[in-house]
Amino acid sequence: MKARKVVLVDAIRTAFGRAGEKGIFWNTRADDMVVKVIRELMRRNPQVKPEMVDENAWGVFCQEKDQGLTLGRTSVILAGLPETTAGYSIDRMCAGGMSAITTAASEIALGACDVAIAGGVEHMGHHPMGATADPNPRFLTDRLVDESAMSMGATAENLHDMFPEISKEMADEYSLICQQKADAAIKSGKIGEMIVPMTVYTKDGWVVADKDEQPRPNTTPEGLAQLRTPFRVMGKVTAGNSSGLNDGAAGCLLMTKDKAEELGIQPKMELKAFAYAGVKPEIMGIGPIPATKKALQVADIKFEDIGLVELNEAFAVQAVAFMNEFGLTFPDDPRMNIYGGAIAFGHPLASSGVRLACHLMHAFAARPEVKYGITTMCVGLGQGGTVVWKNLRRNGEKAEKAEKKEKHEAEKKDEKKEKKKG
Ligand SMILES: CC(C)(COP(=O)(O)OP(=O)(O)OC[C@H]1O[C@@H](n2cnc3c(N)ncnc32)[C@H](O)[C@@H]1OP(=O)(O)O)[C@@H](O)C(=O)NCCC(=O)NCCS
Repeated sequence: MKARKVVLVDAIRTAFGRAGEKGIFWNTRADDMVVKVIRELMRRNPQVKPEMVDENAWGVFCQEKDQGLTLGRTSVILAGLPETTAGYSIDRMCAGGMSAITTAASEIALGACDVAIAGGVEHMGHHPMGATADPNPRFLTDRLVDESAMSMGATAENLHDMFPEISKEMADEYSLICQQKADAAIKSGKIGEMIVPMTVYTKDGWVVADKDEQPRPNTTPEGLAQLRTPFRVMGKVTAGNSSGLNDGAAGCLLMTKDKAEELGIQPKMELKAFAYAGVKPEIMGIGPIPATKKALQVADIKFEDIGLVELNEAFAVQAVAFMNEFGLTFPDDPRMNIYGGAIAFGHPLASSGVRLACHLMHAFAARPEVKYGITTMCVGLGQGGTVVWKNLRRNGEKAEKAEKKEKHEAEKKDEKKEKKKG
């Protein structure tokens, strides 16, 4: 059976709040955030009738209480999708949402369904990271993993040890630029376009949550330099060069390319390939490197063909290690997280893989000459995930020029092959 082409039609998210009692979503249920995203996706895409949605896949790390009971199915009922829509929850820690996308896309590619919603959510205020998990003591007693593998911040300190050329100053410089890029994107209105406003109840009464709470536009090099290093005495990882603890949900609408055509919808990007890779748990931040190599191999393209990178900045050191590996320019590269990343916006675990797709969708529109982009992220206990996407809104002079060049190069490649054969 030939795989069917899968396209992303739309992606949105809630604002990302700060986890905890002071955060804007403290009194809001995680499943209600999911419902908000689903309903907004349906509202924005009226050509897609509710009964067309075959599957509703949601990534979530902590699957209990307001995130339990198979969120993918409960949110079908709560969002008013028809009972014929199936749904499930999926967990790959931070890459839960990314896995929801790739799993739902696989279903579509294989013909199991035509239209799916895929998303991710994490209310880290209600569900502090790993708080109710019961890791097998053998992890540590039998030394299956290093103790530091159980603390993500400690794994980031390990990465600094592994790459001594990445100094604390570099991690801080990277983080400062991230905050500046995020601030510019917020001020230009770009981030607002990605957020569905949600009316929520707080200690100050009803308010509209339509802005991320984490960005710190006033960040300075001096301010960053003074921060504590909570994961190691005299360490390098601080609150300023890490992603934070956040509440948020993000979702997207996927379908076959043919279905989009039939409905008269202009899809935004096509899912070309994806891959996950395992690495040592105590250096989990390195995961995006092998995952990207694997995904590029599956897509049969080179890193040089990638015009935009959306990397989840769990920690700055991990982003810089990725840039060094693939020859991206430090501290900033025109391909890298053009609207800023998780250091500024936050990282509500399972939602981030879909947040990345949402950012890439907008970045593709802003850079119509770019053909391919990736979303990539590291995962606790040692994994990385990468999705390769093709821009379906290539237009304008620059895109035409790029396409001509690609065609010419492909012809040259074919000629070479023919000559070899001869
Ligand atoms: C690093 C971490 C422990 C910090 O948590 P926290 O202490 O609650 O964070 P805060 O936002 O309160 O920041 C701590 C301090 O740094 C300051 N700060 C944070 N970012 C700053 C910045 N860019 N510039 C200046 N100061 C900053 C805050 O103002 C605060 O100062 P205060 O103590 O004087 O109030 C937490 O964010 C964390 O664990 N992050 C990683 C999450 C993670 O592991 N995710 C999974 C990845 S795989």
